[in-house]
Amino acid sequence: MTSHTPPRFPATRLRRPRRTKWSRALHRETVLTPADLIWPLFVTDGRDVEEPIGSLPGVSRWSVDGVARHARSAAALGIPCVALFPNTQRELRSADGREALNPDNLMCRAIRAIRDAVGDGIGILTDVALDPYTSHGQDGLVDETGYVLNDATVEVLVGQARNQAEAGADIIAPSDMMDGRIEAIRNALEVDGHADVQIMSYAAKYASAFYGPFRDAVGSRGLLKGDKKTYQMDPGNAEEALREVAADIAEGADSVMVKPGLAYLDIVRRVKERFAIPVFAYQVSGEYAMIEAAVSAGAGERDALVIETLTAFKRAGCSGVLTYHAAHAARLLNA
Ligand code: PBG
Repeated sequence: MTSHTPPRFPATRLRRPRRTKWSRALHRETVLTPADLIWPLFVTDGRDVEEPIGSLPGVSRWSVDGVARHARSAAALGIPCVALFPNTQRELRSADGREALNPDNLMCRAIRAIRDAVGDGIGILTDVALDPYTSHGQDGLVDETGYVLNDATVEVLVGQARNQAEAGADIIAPSDMMDGRIEAIRNALEVDGHADVQIMSYAAKYASAFYGPFRDAVGSRGLLKGDKKTYQMDPGNAEEALREVAADIAEGADSVMVKPGLAYLDIVRRVKERFAIPVFAYQVSGEYAMIEAAVSAGAGERDALVIETLTAFKRAGCSGVLTYHAAHAARLLNA
């Protein structure tokens, strides 16, 4: 007796659409563009100054003129927004961070210079928190034990946000993690006639080991006593992130941020599934430095690592990503 076994084929061949470049392009679910990127820039005092940051190879602090030039090139690359962080001169730092309220501080001068150079051609996002201005490196006011006071800090943050809005900031981004600051800032902006100034809240910001190079960049690493664990979140917590986001939405945030980035994509996804609000992530300084270290060690290829990680943020649900690789990524995407 002869038996005939019909040939067996896979019912589904998922490799079929992957075969050619055009077909991969046609089937790609997540497409990264320069419009997904926000470029953080560090501002320093002086004219015509560039200060490379050792722990962030390829990133420098620029004086206000240089920051304006970089904002112009960002706009030309199709990057919709820059984020500003000042390296306040040492002698202007104080226990109460009052330089944050100075209408002529580095931040305000940079805002005005970018506006002069680029007009409305680029968004200006400004960081609200006191760490670049305090002599102790904490994001707020501290009591005699070093504990960061919530409500007293919020009062100063409100003044800082008003100062930035008055100078022309488009998006106020509180990164301090005090309770109640979104509502307080929103109210003050309305009262001041800045109803159209947005708030992007650093809603789920973790007490992370990935911020080291940033603290070098804004000159707070050497000053910081202790850590930020009494206000930034515990990396083990996810439900708490949802509560933080819910609170900030109720208080008037236009968009929310998760920070750091790659190690917290589950948080991005959960926030996106739960809330109808734009979610951003910050690929922070330590993440940038890890990629650069991998490239230097011959362990990876920069262009591919940059595009793959940034695409992952979008796939997870981000509307956009703050990244020090923004200009490089935009150049690759525009090529
Ligand atoms: C502080 C602030 C930090 C970052 C942005 N705003 C550091 C911190 O909380 O100590 C980190 C960004 C980065 O690491 O790239 N308000």
